[in-house]
Amino acid sequence: MEFRDLLLIHPMWQLAFTLLALYAAWLGLKRLVSLHMGKIAAFSRPRHILIGKIVICGLLAGAVGGLITVRWAWRAWFITGPHAVIGIIAAGLLAFGLLLGVYLERRPAPRRKLPLIHGLVNLLGLALCLVQFITGSEVLEVFVLGE
Ligand code: HEM
Ligand code: HEM
Repeated sequence: MEFRDLLLIHPMWQLAFTLLALYAAWLGLKRLVSLHMGKIAAFSRPRHILIGKIVICGLLAGAVGGLITVRWAWRAWFITGPHAVIGIIAAGLLAFGLLLGVYLERRPAPRRKLPLIHGLVNLLGLALCLVQFITGSEVLEVFVLGE
């Protein structure tokens, strides 16, 4: 495997998990519609929990992978500017969303506020991951393909 191929693992990994996260969000949005908008929508709780755990763990591992790759390839931390900053914020939000999700999973009860906070925190984290497509492709062009 060549140096450049190794640098492509993180972008492809994050791309795949972000796309799968859209599916987790779609499942969660059905719950939002039924809990807060009074509409009937079937919520597949076990599937949302499973896919949600897979995507958040995947994205967190990918963020750590990105940090390690940058450190390994260029012997420095946080050299990608906005991509690094937004990535850390996204990872923090998703980690918090995961903790709330595990709590909701283990202590089921009729609630409205906590699921909403969980949903909004994760949706914001996911939105930042989508922004990373833009900042990340700039990093790809400047750091990886321009090498
Ligand atoms: C990117 C990942 C995720 C997104 C975008 C997401 C989004 C959402 C949204 C929008 C809701 C509806 C909230 C509401 O209507 O008030 C929800 C509900 C829920 N989520 Fe997630 N979620 C994610 C990951 C997870 C994970 C990892 C878990 C469990 C470990 C989880 C467990 C739950 C549970 C149990 C509910 C229903 C809560 C209830 O009805 O009391 N979610 N999620
Ligand atoms: C899918 C679009 C993405 C692209 C194209 C992309 C691209 C890149 C590239 C090229 C690097 C340099 C290291 C390497 O090549 O392995 C990098 C680093 C990094 N990425 Fe991404 N990335 C994306 C998504 C994400 C997401 C969703 C996160 C966070 C949740 C993230 C967090 C990071 C972090 C923390 C670093 C280290 C930055 C530094 O230390 O300066 N990336 N990314």
